[in-house]
Amino acid sequence: MLTESSRRHDFPSLDERTYLNTAAEGIPPGRVIDALHQYGQDKLLGMDGRDLHTVQWQRAKSALGKLLGFSADEVTLCSCSSEAFNLARAALRLAGDDEVIITDLDFPAGVTPFLCVIPVCRQGFGNAAETGRCTSKI
Ligand SMILES: Cc1ncc(COP(=O)(O)O)c(C=O)c1O
Repeated sequence: MLTESSRRHDFPSLDERTYLNTAAEGIPPGRVIDALHQYGQDKLLGMDGRDLHTVQWQRAKSALGKLLGFSADEVTLCSCSSEAFNLARAALRLAGDDEVIITDLDFPAGVTPFLCVIPVCRQGFGNAAETGRCTSKI
């Protein structure tokens, strides 16, 4: 559970400041840095490190599946959120009558995969709802 103490432990650099940026500019908790370090150590073993990495990969998928209510086999990990959004859009096989709700407050990588596939309905924060149809196709 997130507590003041766990937050201080996970994010020591936030002890004396408030930081609101997220995603690529977010501050990773210390355990992420530890995991990256371990990954580097495993890579120093060459192919032998791959087995160690595979164990961590499976653990991560299991933990994520548990969190989201899926089995580990139903979870995959992507190299970045842009890749994930593009894969999700491709996997959905969107057709003419399908609708995808996006926000213009999102980072572009989160919405661009959906802008050129199907008709788009936009609702800006504080703006009137606006509906448009995309003219380009992938
Ligand atoms: C808020 C936000 N969302 C998403 C992204 C895209 O991140 P990724 O590198 O995971 O595709 C970024 C990248 O800077 C970002 O700042």
